[in-house]
Amino acid sequence: MLTSLPSHSALIEYFEKFQDVHMRDLFKEDRDRFTSFSLQAPHIFIDYSKNRISKPILDLLIKLAEEAELDKQRRSLFTGTMFNGQPLNNTENRHVLHTLLRQPYTDKEKDLIVNSDNLSEEVRLCHQKMHDFLAKVHKGNYVGARGKAINTLVSIGIGGSFLGPKMVTDALAPYALEGFRCHYVANIDSTDLYETLSKVNPDTTLFLIQSKSFTTLETLENANAVKAHLKAIGFSETDISQHLAAVTSQEQVALDLGIAPDRIFPMWDWVGGRYSLWSAIGLPIAFLLGMDNFKLLLSGAHDMDQHFLTAPLNQNAPVLLGLLSVWYQNYFNTSSHAVLPYEQYLRTFPDHLQQLDMESNGKHVSRMGEALTYNTGPVLWGGIGCNGQHAYHQLLHQGTHLLPSDFITCLNTHHPIADHHKHLFSNCLSQAKAMMSGKSTEEAFHELLQQGMDKQQASELAPHKENKGNQPSNTLLLKKLTPETLGALTALYEHKTFVQGAILGVNSFDQWGVELGKVLGKEVFLAMSNKEMSDNLDASTKGLLNLYLD
Ligand code: F6P
Repeated sequence: MLTSLPSHSALIEYFEKFQDVHMRDLFKEDRDRFTSFSLQAPHIFIDYSKNRISKPILDLLIKLAEEAELDKQRRSLFTGTMFNGQPLNNTENRHVLHTLLRQPYTDKEKDLIVNSDNLSEEVRLCHQKMHDFLAKVHKGNYVGARGKAINTLVSIGIGGSFLGPKMVTDALAPYALEGFRCHYVANIDSTDLYETLSKVNPDTTLFLIQSKSFTTLETLENANAVKAHLKAIGFSETDISQHLAAVTSQEQVALDLGIAPDRIFPMWDWVGGRYSLWSAIGLPIAFLLGMDNFKLLLSGAHDMDQHFLTAPLNQNAPVLLGLLSVWYQNYFNTSSHAVLPYEQYLRTFPDHLQQLDMESNGKHVSRMGEALTYNTGPVLWGGIGCNGQHAYHQLLHQGTHLLPSDFITCLNTHHPIADHHKHLFSNCLSQAKAMMSGKSTEEAFHELLQQGMDKQQASELAPHKENKGNQPSNTLLLKKLTPETLGALTALYEHKTFVQGAILGVNSFDQWGVELGKVLGKEVFLAMSNKEMSDNLDASTKGLLNLYLD
């Protein structure tokens, strides 16, 4: 637990002394601050100089990581060895090994065997199955029931079985294979399915049911609705089966749904949903972009894995970003973190990170079940720039909250038009600069005088124009958004999330909190047609339900 780590109290002392120091002054005092607080990680340059830290604070944060046995924990993420006598995901008794999915094929001597299962071989076979199936599809040799080649995929899944693949296919749209399309249906709101079905031609569409557990209500209801839709337009059971595929760890349930074994792709209990885009759950990615691009995505992530596993803690990008997050959440008492990509193709990146970070670290007890007295995961939010500048950035500039953020941008765009990219890049840098340095009331006052305002008016308006600044941010630079750089960027955030959880002492790999809502969802649904159950509901839920039923 964070509070029992020896460096925690030293950090509190440092915080007391340092909390009012302005970054503007830190930059004035140290001309090398950019060099001292930036690093080149695989595929990503990271400037973390605009943070409210000093060298001694960073040293103490690194010490904190050592005390939390981060080194031991990170090795467990790659080897499946026990941490403190337990698998990393101790409450579900599961290893956490998504990094294996992106390991390049080496000689079989180095295969990872856990509990006498050869996990490396299972991954190899899975990738081979994806490759063989997609080779057929991409050559136009996989045809639907009415003899037409399949060129459209509708992925049916939610949470990790949706957000990761959707983020990647959005981000890498320029790499889409010509003539292929991919759509997603996640929600139980029938509009989601209706809208999608109205866009696709069933004769050329494959419906891929994505569910690790194959118990998820939204996914199963949508899968059944798709089957009913295909039946209604005249498909026989055999025809329907031709248009179905699945990714799941529950093969038998998929078989029972009428899906042929050669179109059922495996999932494993050592891959969490929010870390699963690298597995066959990434089939929509490989369908749309080709297996080669999917492999490049894995390879970019692997580069980041190696960096995370081997770089010293004080030169390790995920470690530094994770520690900075802990510094703000647990010492400055912040509760949110903004991710602001200045790259249109990353518009759904914050959505993916929301599940990754908030489902992983939204915990109120330690790994051992002790109640925590400190903040855990932040509220993660964000959106693309410059759009955000004309919406919520006002609060970042002049609100009363301390709001750490990450700016993400690329040195090159896929679609250069006039000076657009120069403007985009300049805006990204200037927003981070404005948040860091701000503008004092005095500066604002003199500016207004120079603009011709009289002293009285200027002194009245100046406080409204003051920007306190001192808002921390990291800037992440990619050369260009490619499969490799996106792989590295996504893995960077996965490991950052892991580092935060490791320092906070929580299990970042379970999600028991979502269970209560699922159980109550079933109960309220049943109460719609059962008076006794509905009478037992609290007055608010019952009142609202009655309005629905009236
Ligand atoms: O309800 C949360 C959750 O379990 C996520 O962790 C998971 O990504 C999502 O539901 C979907 O689960 P499944 O792939 O089993 O349908």
